[in-house]
Amino acid sequence: MSELEIITYPNKFLLRPTTPLENIDGRVQEMIDKMAATMYEAPGVGLAAIQVRWGKSLLIYDISPPDEKRQLNVIINPRIIVREGEVLSENEGCLSVPDFRSDVKRAAKILVEGVDREGNPLRIDAEGLLAIVLQHEIDHLNGTLFIDRISTLKREMYKRRMKKKLRMK
Ligand code: NI
Repeated sequence: MSELEIITYPNKFLLRPTTPLENIDGRVQEMIDKMAATMYEAPGVGLAAIQVRWGKSLLIYDISPPDEKRQLNVIINPRIIVREGEVLSENEGCLSVPDFRSDVKRAAKILVEGVDREGNPLRIDAEGLLAIVLQHEIDHLNGTLFIDRISTLKREMYKRRMKKKLRMK
């Protein structure tokens, strides 16, 4: 069991924009390792710090195929510099939005800047799954969930279902 808990909708913490991470110290390295353990255990392909109640601008991801060696990536203070085109991200889901999936409109290509866990500047030209994962995780860092990007009708259906579930607990 990993030590971090992934918070889920409707936890209000998920709606708070995060603040930039200034010092990449030993504690940050420890948090990254714990986040990675949590993401792999879930399992998920991406995790934003805010999802484990850490209000900093940091995300991790690993989109390597299941049968290949794990390849953990970290982006600190990521920013989307360029967005191009549009693509339908099919059946998108989120560890913080349990039991729900939906198609989401995303940019087809993005350019992301940030720094890695050693503090080196990063520039990532992303398309395909990587572009979708990065947009999803960067949304988290701005307090946005993928259900904020779907139709009101679909979102309300999900909210009603969650309310019902919470009442039954
Ligand atoms: Ni998510």
